[in-house]
Amino acid sequence: MSVTEIKENVFSVGAVDWNIRDFHGYSTEKGTTYNSYLIKDEKIALVDTVKKEFKDDLLFHLSELVDPEKIDYLIVNHVEMDHSGSLPEIMDIIKPEKLFCSKNGHKALLEHFHREDWPYEIVKTGDTIKLGKKTVTFLETPMLHWPDSMFTYIPEDKLLFSSDGFGQHIASTERYADELNDCDLMHQAAKYYSNILTVFSPNVKRLLAKVAEMGIEIDMIAPDHGVIWRGESCGEIISAYERWCNYISADKVLVIYDSMWHSTEKMAKVIGSELARGGLEVKMLNLKVNHRSDIMTDVLDAKALILGSSTLNNNMLPVMADFITYFKGLRPKNKVVAAFGSYGWSGEAVKHINQVMEAINLPLAHPGVRVRNVPRPEHFEECQELARAVVAAVKEMA
Ligand code: FEO
Repeated sequence: MSVTEIKENVFSVGAVDWNIRDFHGYSTEKGTTYNSYLIKDEKIALVDTVKKEFKDDLLFHLSELVDPEKIDYLIVNHVEMDHSGSLPEIMDIIKPEKLFCSKNGHKALLEHFHREDWPYEIVKTGDTIKLGKKTVTFLETPMLHWPDSMFTYIPEDKLLFSSDGFGQHIASTERYADELNDCDLMHQAAKYYSNILTVFSPNVKRLLAKVAEMGIEIDMIAPDHGVIWRGESCGEIISAYERWCNYISADKVLVIYDSMWHSTEKMAKVIGSELARGGLEVKMLNLKVNHRSDIMTDVLDAKALILGSSTLNNNMLPVMADFITYFKGLRPKNKVVAAFGSYGWSGEAVKHINQVMEAINLPLAHPGVRVRNVPRPEHFEECQELARAVVAAVKEMA
């Protein structure tokens, strides 16, 4: 990434991580960026830093613009290590007059870095500091994506530094959404939302309402990951967040399964065909070849999930247990579910899947279909019945 002036005297100075492929279980096949921004005014402020391994990239970019020791203020919008891992070394170099953070940010910085001596200045929503011609206003955004998170806004530039919000895991030299030739952008933004923010959708909803209430005008959204949204693209990503945080979905159903000796797979295929006959968009997702985080991207706009697993050692198959654990943590809402699977002698997989779904308040459209060993035609009829029950439940949903 090279230094880019994104507004007059506001610069993108962060780093590109082309090679990261796993972010806490989320597959980042396109890499990512750790964005940091420098505001040059009578007071010079740095907004967020980068992951520890990318400290030299940040310092190299800063040194093109300013002697790092001349930076007056450091604004820490978020303490997670991908944005603060380099902080101790950066603090030692720039020795800022003040470090601005939220109350929870202060607590998290102390717990991470054990540095009582840093010049903390705790800020809350609506607090404003004057840099010279520009001012910056803070907006606390708890749980987007940690309790400490906050946004920083420059009203003179209608520029919102949105921390993890509105991010995407995309490595690129281009800095703006409208410069990417890759039409995968909204897919990556959806993947990011689904895998990181779904569980915090009520907070996203409250935040969007608060931004509207505060009358914040936005011409540019600069997140801490991926490309910057400017002009019309700001409206596109905000509209997408409105849909996602309200769990708005399509008449789409996912058949997510794993199979030991193809019996569960045969059931999955019959279920998939019957769902399609019922007029739903169907995706068949074999857990052996689809990553949990890609499946979660499809979950975002699906109205139903049908989960299939053979029984192994009185339980579901390991890849299904992995997926369900991940899915449960992200707590998607406004979906109906059902389960199916074959077994040899005990057959607990369907029961265990149903228990997890009930525990997270996702309604079962059907009690489930279990088949001992290899399915016969009458078992396929049961699978078709299950599919028809899901079609009916989806059609009843708003
Ligand atoms: Fe990109 Fe929650 O850190």
